[in-house]
Amino acid sequence: MAQTKKAISPMETKVNNLLAKMTLEEKVGQMTQVTLDVVGTKTDGQLNPVALKKAIADYHVGSILNVTSHALSLEQWHKLLTEIADEANKTKNKIPVLYGLDGIHGQTYTLNSTLFPQNIGMAATRNLELGKAVTKVAAKELRASGVRWNFAPVLDIGRQPLWSRFPETYGEDVYIGKTMGAAVIKAYEEGGLDKIDAVASCMKHFLGYSASRTGKDRTPIYLPEIEMREYYLPQFRAAVAAGASTVMINSSEINGTPVHADKYLLTDVLRKELGFEGVIVTDWEDIKRVNDRHRVAATPREAVAICVNAGIDMSMVPMDFSFYDLLIEAVKKNEVPMSRIDDAVKRILLLKYKLGLFTNPYPEKEAIVNFGKAEYQTLALDAAHEAMTLLKNEANILPLSKNTKVLVAGPSAQSISALNGCWSYTWQGKEEQWYPADSKTILQTIIDKIGVGNVTTTTGKGFDNPLNFDTSTLKTAAGNADAIILCLGENAYAESPGNIGDLALDENQTALARAAIATGKPVILVLTEGRPRFITNIAGSMKGILMAYWSGKKTGEAITDVLFGDYNPSGRLPFSYPRSMGEIVMYDRKPTEEIREVFNDDVHTGYNPLFAFGHGLSYTSFAYTNLHVSTNALKGNQQLTVTVQVKNTGTKDGKHSVELYTRDMYASITPNMKRLRGFKKIELHAGESQTVTFTIDKSDLAFVNAKLKTVTEPGDFKVMIGDQEADFRYDN
Ligand code: BGC
Repeated sequence: MAQTKKAISPMETKVNNLLAKMTLEEKVGQMTQVTLDVVGTKTDGQLNPVALKKAIADYHVGSILNVTSHALSLEQWHKLLTEIADEANKTKNKIPVLYGLDGIHGQTYTLNSTLFPQNIGMAATRNLELGKAVTKVAAKELRASGVRWNFAPVLDIGRQPLWSRFPETYGEDVYIGKTMGAAVIKAYEEGGLDKIDAVASCMKHFLGYSASRTGKDRTPIYLPEIEMREYYLPQFRAAVAAGASTVMINSSEINGTPVHADKYLLTDVLRKELGFEGVIVTDWEDIKRVNDRHRVAATPREAVAICVNAGIDMSMVPMDFSFYDLLIEAVKKNEVPMSRIDDAVKRILLLKYKLGLFTNPYPEKEAIVNFGKAEYQTLALDAAHEAMTLLKNEANILPLSKNTKVLVAGPSAQSISALNGCWSYTWQGKEEQWYPADSKTILQTIIDKIGVGNVTTTTGKGFDNPLNFDTSTLKTAAGNADAIILCLGENAYAESPGNIGDLALDENQTALARAAIATGKPVILVLTEGRPRFITNIAGSMKGILMAYWSGKKTGEAITDVLFGDYNPSGRLPFSYPRSMGEIVMYDRKPTEEIREVFNDDVHTGYNPLFAFGHGLSYTSFAYTNLHVSTNALKGNQQLTVTVQVKNTGTKDGKHSVELYTRDMYASITPNMKRLRGFKKIELHAGESQTVTFTIDKSDLAFVNAKLKTVTEPGDFKVMIGDQEADFRYDN
């Protein structure tokens, strides 16, 4: 029987024609990605013409990434990328070089770009439109800098709070990760990759990267496939469906197989099952590591062969040309088939065509107007505002009146890096000299708001400044204050430098908190942190607790607006804030994780975080009534419409995320106690009501069964919104 062939697009024809002219060396060069250090000089932003020629003319490298140490100016980027494009233009085939960077929460590596909340903060906003808007700005500022490939978004789920990349995740829930991730990918690539406000996105890091057993970055993962499919894979499935152009692979190993060498995951799952057709790039040095760290390949060449045969298209080598030499050898020795090379190179060339690089490989001058617009600052403030998550507000201590005499204490009070976190003008985000000059500390924003006369502080500049931890000055200074604003948390870190052995707050911070509490003055705790550090021992004595995450450029302003009532907080926790090390349980727990047996009686105290997933207070109150389901007997592919009435019953206008959960009452695999299936962010004036509608279908009720199939089993379900619930039955 004749098979219907997929029609070849004009762009694919161009790719095929070009490929036919290329030598093995030129092809393997396309699969090679080096870092800027290889072609640059020690002076930032300066290329070494000899090294550049060697990389492009001799090794035919297809891609370059990164900065040597810190963000460059827009002009420096244009100059650098023009020189690279000029060099590529001198080659026989004139194949443009694809430049890639990590714009994780805005364009990390261009000076004066706009930084937004990290993904963990964006997840707290529960606002997909806002997620798209900030992503669009990141895309514009990357493209304006001449960079067309962004290594974002991170789609790894945050179920291991020790993990040093937790802030880059959308938290512990699958649904938030799926929907935010897909929205962000669409925003990066919207309108077509040749447009001057789009960039190619990169799904990171396929797959299971965040599930490291110890929480240390790049350490072994032991992940049963049923768990992988239920919690880790759906975000990537949704991202592929949203059109992601590229993917980066998990540096670690799962059940003893380095993911870069895992043909099942890369080819069977990602390519065949998910239908991903874009470029698969390694993470940093990861092919080498299959040999020298993971030790499943006895030689560097064997590592190259295993990984390319598993499905890798491009190697982030990135410090030398070893991959190029070894892959050529491997092909010549028939260890890698030419068909695999052609397949990889086609995908890379097609991406370059789609990005418009063959038409114009130079930084686009007309994109420059999209850099640094004043409106981005407003958007950064909106995003930071919506991320703010009020965890505690005893006796409505907040908002404070603007006449309050406050003592501002703690290490993040005069730190910019502790408000922005990782990937902020440098990889680690710690070097404050690279931040925009108008970045404000928490202390500065408080002074701006209530006047210098109302503010005293015991703090000094910089997170680690010893003044910040001096408990005796705090004690004395508190004498004249009505309240203490205590700014604790984490300074910036990224990847392995952020590894910790314990979620406990550093002792010097706990001591400071105790000293603040001992003054007898009301203490408001402001947390700027990328992951939940234990505050169980001090939380009970705090009158207010505000979780600010690392919310980017306007974190200070957003915190102060909430503290003094100029913004009504609406963020909701995207993770369960744990109480202690032995009590790290996710909200979507299994029934037996919730039950604790006490003398044969079951008590439901197993899920007992300090603050639950979804927790977040407001200065107004919302009441839910009239939950209604369109049918109590859902059949086949029918949709279930769920409506609920939400009323702002307080005296202040406010935003609110309405969240729909379902519970499968009985199933062949122990069902979760609840799963988030929808959220909608609404805004209600004081006294105003709104009917909120959700539609779900059987796919929202599905789970992965013992045979690793995603199924919806007939049976009884519960739908829950706020304190309202309804039952229904599902039948095939
Ligand atoms: C990180 C990636 C990043 C890459 C390039 C790696 O260390 O794991 O997330 O994209 O570096 O900077």
